[in-house]
Amino acid sequence: MAPPIYIAPSILSADFARLADEVAAVERAGADMLHVDVMDGHFVPNLTVGPPIVESLRKVTKLPLDVHLMITNADAFIPEFAEAGADYLTVHVEACPHLHRTIQSIKERGVKAGVTLNPATPISSLQEIWGDVDLVLIMSVNPGFGGQTFIPSVLKKIVEARIQLDRLNSQALLEVDGGVKVDNTKEIVAAGATTLVAGSAIFSQRDYTATIAAMRAAAQTVAQPTPRAAVNR
Ligand code: DX5
Ligand code: ZN
Repeated sequence: MAPPIYIAPSILSADFARLADEVAAVERAGADMLHVDVMDGHFVPNLTVGPPIVESLRKVTKLPLDVHLMITNADAFIPEFAEAGADYLTVHVEACPHLHRTIQSIKERGVKAGVTLNPATPISSLQEIWGDVDLVLIMSVNPGFGGQTFIPSVLKKIVEARIQLDRLNSQALLEVDGGVKVDNTKEIVAAGATTLVAGSAIFSQRDYTATIAAMRAAAQTVAQPTPRAAVNR
């Protein structure tokens, strides 16, 4: 049976002037989580939101808040984001020299810990941390902007991550972020992803319900992710 797939709309592509309405709309439309992109103009060449927005979102939605920190000094902001109500805090391996300490600091605050990799960062950089994380995020664009094109070479990294997590019997979410559309959902899920972030694919459409349903339907055409079948053989 196909594993459950979680769909996480990224508010980066929402209308920020109507943020509460947009969040309510994707919640009604069947979203499973809300993806919040935090950018510092330093680790990535763009600026977005901080803890006050997370705190405001916490008051208007029951959806888990999946906060993606694209910032240089994540350690300094973990307490504030945890306090603001983040359910998942995901940090970049490229920005965290003391990754184990950072992951522990997230978990100590009762928040689920995620780790993520840029497209050019090898999956082997997670070797010592697989067993410690609740979420692994594979970036399928270079972070910084919505609306970019999915980089197909990351598919093999999703497969490698799936194999590592299955070896450990880990229940960590395997999330993919960047250029995820209805049309490529099937191959991303077939590679082993469980959680799909989609910004422009959802918010550029008038009918959020139809788009989320189409993604879910595409995901359900995958009987079993290929590597999982290979590992179980
Ligand atoms: C990119 C962000 C993404 C972005 C995805 O740096 O991390 O979450 O919102 O946008 P789309 O789905 O439009 O590629
Ligand atoms: Zn993101």
